[in-house]
Amino acid sequence: MIAVMGLGFVGLTTGLGLAHRSGQQVFAYDADERKRELYKGKRISFHEPHLQEQLERYGGDRFIVCDTLAEAVAQADTIFICVGTPSSLSGETDLGDLQRAVSAYLDALEQLSQPKPYPVIVIKSTVPASTTTDVVQLLLENRGYRIGVNIGLAHNPEFLREGSAWNDFVQPDRIIIGEVDPIGAQRVRELYANFGVPIHCVSAHTAEFVKYASNSLLATMISFANELSMIAARVGHIDITQVFHLLHEDKRWQGHPAKMTDYVFPGCGFGGYCLPKDTLSLYAHAGHYGHEAVMLKAVLQVNEDIKRHIVEQIAASVQPEGTIGILGLSFKPESDDVRGAVSRDIIRLLLDRGYSRIVAYDPMAMENFHNAYELPIMYADSVEEVVNRSEVLTIVTAWRDFKDKQNLYQGKKIIDGRHYL
Ligand SMILES: NC(=O)c1ccc[n+]([C@@H]2O[C@H](COP(=O)([O-])OP(=O)(O)OC[C@H]3O[C@@H](n4cnc5c(N)ncnc54)[C@H](O)[C@@H]3O)[C@@H](O)[C@H]2O)c1
Repeated sequence: MIAVMGLGFVGLTTGLGLAHRSGQQVFAYDADERKRELYKGKRISFHEPHLQEQLERYGGDRFIVCDTLAEAVAQADTIFICVGTPSSLSGETDLGDLQRAVSAYLDALEQLSQPKPYPVIVIKSTVPASTTTDVVQLLLENRGYRIGVNIGLAHNPEFLREGSAWNDFVQPDRIIIGEVDPIGAQRVRELYANFGVPIHCVSAHTAEFVKYASNSLLATMISFANELSMIAARVGHIDITQVFHLLHEDKRWQGHPAKMTDYVFPGCGFGGYCLPKDTLSLYAHAGHYGHEAVMLKAVLQVNEDIKRHIVEQIAASVQPEGTIGILGLSFKPESDDVRGAVSRDIIRLLLDRGYSRIVAYDPMAMENFHNAYELPIMYADSVEEVVNRSEVLTIVTAWRDFKDKQNLYQGKKIIDGRHYL
């Protein structure tokens, strides 16, 4: 059976949703007595579609609100912790409620007359990457527990949106389980087994980070749109509403021919003729009208930082006298265009650091690259030749051929700048 600790938006939805979907009894507890009384009376304190009727349906039957934590803990072998994780004054996450909740759970566990064979704690609260292992696991170990031996631990981020919390919970896009120990992860997997959606078991750090990736992407898109609205207001005579409606007609939002998801993916930076020049142009144009476009500035800065980051990775794996293989010179696959190519900047940075043995291969763009930049590097006739001649390989352009030939890279240090192998 399941316990849920913290009955705010997430905890109440999780408890009712699990009661509905898993068919198990859920024992729910909130430190706030007022909330407990309200829920026991089958009333919710906030507006959220469907929750009221689900509480009426399952309250007192499959969803039991407990007066004490001990009551909930006694019944359940798995507990979902859904307490708040607000920002502290410094901006860092305040983990106080989470730490107190875990400690209170352990206190309750230790007072049971019949010890639980293998209780599992599932952190559902949004927490910075490393919290589940470096804070919660540590807390458990300091209390004498051993993860994977006598207690289980997992992270299970929640993606529900207020206003559609019920549907988001019972029909999620996917379930993500951040595994700390296999038994704990398996227990969570079983609870979600009949949700009928993909279940992904990943490291706890990855699971924690996905939630921040999701929310900060949404925040970034909103601020991007707002930055553009401020630039447009300065320039004048631009209907920004129309601009965004027209932008939304771009077929890439629907996945044709390229997908927006291709752009929201890490790599080694954007290049080519248009993206660098036009982003810089818009930044400069806004400045001309007296608006400092901080997001565009950051976009351009990150595009430089990522190339230096790749070069750091290469430098960490090969001495300056070693040979570096570069796979891909064109700015994107299926093109021989090398204008603004990221490969040029990465190679220049390597040359500046004293790497003189660089061997490159591109299915189409070698001649253009050589003619355009005249850099002191060697060119190979094939992927095989680059692999044989170099100590470290760096994929800069995501040509299909490089993926198809990945069996050649076995035993080689490879820096997959496009994250596509
Ligand atoms: N609200 C959302 O839309 C949403 C969506 C996804 C994830 N999240 C994350 O889920 C977590 C919870 O969010 P929320 O909106 O439900 O928060 P909330 O503030 O509405 O609810 C938290 C509840 O935990 C209770 N609580 C605190 N300490 C407790 C303890 N020791 N024992 C029992 N109960 C305790 C509080 O009384 C409160 O009712 C946060 O980390 C949040 O970032 C929220």
